[in-house]
Amino acid sequence: MKKLTAIAFASGLAVASGQAMAADADAGKKLYEQSCASCHGQKAQGQGMFPKLAGHSADETVQALTHYKNGDQDALKEMDANLGGSNFAIMAPNAAGLSEGDMENLGAYIESL
Ligand code: HEC
Repeated sequence: MKKLTAIAFASGLAVASGQAMAADADAGKKLYEQSCASCHGQKAQGQGMFPKLAGHSADETVQALTHYKNGDQDALKEMDANLGGSNFAIMAPNAAGLSEGDMENLGAYIESL
């Protein structure tokens, strides 16, 4: 019984650390500073027409970026009525070149802010 518990615990840890490795917030920070901060602000605090990103969950960020990449304005409007309108074209090119991994890293970083 003791041994079984130990095995279950060890495999739980393996899953947890596997998830931590899947998204790399440090890599997300680098990418954010290179490609996103000029509009959304150093701390993702937003400015003027550029929405605040800080505090969004990783899932929300990945979802929104995927919609920009796919050009899915309707899905963005469903997420937030202020998105996917006339400013869509300003954001879409910034998501076009992102891989799924990039999006997850950005999501992890933004969630940490
Ligand atoms: C040239 C300026 C610019 C750059 C660079 C830029 N964005 Fe944006 N971003 C915008 C604008 C404008 C919007 C609002 C678009 C709309 O109305 O749909 C936006 C919207 C977003 C949203 C949706 C916001 C919300 O409230 O859910 C996310 C997420 C986002 N950007 C992430 C990023 C990330 C990550 C990067 C870097 C890879 C980035 N942006 C680079 C201008 C920019």
